[in-house]
Amino acid sequence: MASILLRHNKALCALFFLLFMIYHDTAMAILTFKPIKANCASTKYTENSTFSTNLKDLFSILKAKSSSSISINQTSGKAPDTTFGLYFCTGDLSQDNCQACIETAITDITESCRSSKQGIIWYDYCELRYSDTDFFGVPDTNGFAMINLNENTTSSRPVEVVSQLVQEAPLVKPLMFKTQPLISESLYALAQCSSDLTSQGCSDCLTTILTNIKACCTGAKGWRYLATSCWIRYEATPFLQNIINTTVISPSPPPSVSLAPSTTPEKDGAASKEKASTISFAATVSSVLAVIILLPIY
Ligand SMILES: *[C@@H]1O[C@H](CO)[C@@H](O)[C@H](O)[C@H]1NC(C)=O
Ligand SMILES: *[C@@H]1O[C@H](CO)[C@@H](O)[C@H](O)[C@H]1NC(C)=O
Ligand SMILES: *[C@@H]1O[C@H](CO)[C@@H](O)[C@H](O)[C@H]1NC(C)=O
Ligand SMILES: *[C@@H]1O[C@H](CO)[C@@H](O)[C@H](O)[C@H]1NC(C)=O
Repeated sequence: MASILLRHNKALCALFFLLFMIYHDTAMAILTFKPIKANCASTKYTENSTFSTNLKDLFSILKAKSSSSISINQTSGKAPDTTFGLYFCTGDLSQDNCQACIETAITDITESCRSSKQGIIWYDYCELRYSDTDFFGVPDTNGFAMINLNENTTSSRPVEVVSQLVQEAPLVKPLMFKTQPLISESLYALAQCSSDLTSQGCSDCLTTILTNIKACCTGAKGWRYLATSCWIRYEATPFLQNIINTTVISPSPPPSVSLAPSTTPEKDGAASKEKASTISFAATVSSVLAVIILLPIY
């Protein structure tokens, strides 16, 4: 009798566990994170050096902090082998997803920038950066634009809305993140800076990349500029994670659907111009506009 009860209990437990998992998965889905782009310095550190130990240490601190912080800058080790690092997740991301993004980023950057003294990796929802030099507080506008090649727009609203966010985000301390989901207009926008910047530095960074995007890309229905220290993004389809009603009210997505942006590398001209300026890491990242093709994402 007791054993039958126990078995029933086990079955019941399993059922509840299953239901919980289904609920948990739908309510708090963990996204998958594919790198958009990585930049690595050509200077290398040697295996088992103090620097390599400090870098491992830095990554484990960042990983630990990603369970409770959306955006952080951090050092590890003493001079001259100090490592400097930071990450930020977009402010709309859940903490679970932020941690998953940063864990993925640490694994990917270790692979992509093997033994590099400096590296940056970009995802849709987070960015990770490390270096052997102190870059904290310096607004770095090197980066790249992405556009939706499948649809154009003549509307000035996206630029208007993002311009507003560019003014407001720097004042929202400490995250310096601001979104504007305009569901009825099918307009979703974001601006964000890394947390090491001052409000003034953030403002300078965002203003520069807004100028960059205006110079190339605002005819597209969907664009973003992901610089090293700040991001702006506009889409006609919801990409923000914390909007409860978007899936209900927003118009149906375009017919051809793929889940992630294609990561077709930069347009021809950009690559060669990039090669011409490999003097420093910052130059490698390049102020040259590297337009990455963004296929329909939803
Ligand atoms: C680094 O340390 C590991 C473990 O101690 C060792 O197996 C490896 O050979 C070392 N590599 C170098 C290049 O010294
Ligand atoms: C983060 O960066 C700021 C400079 O922008 C610096 O003052 C602060 O000490 C840094 N934090 C850590 C933990 O290194
Ligand atoms: C969008 O505009 C660009 C630049 O004017 C043009 O080359 C492209 O063919 C247009 N794309 C579509 C889908 O209309
Ligand atoms: C979502 O929609 C419901 C009704 O459709 C509304 O009551 C609620 O306020 C909306 N929530 C948000 C966050 O807009």
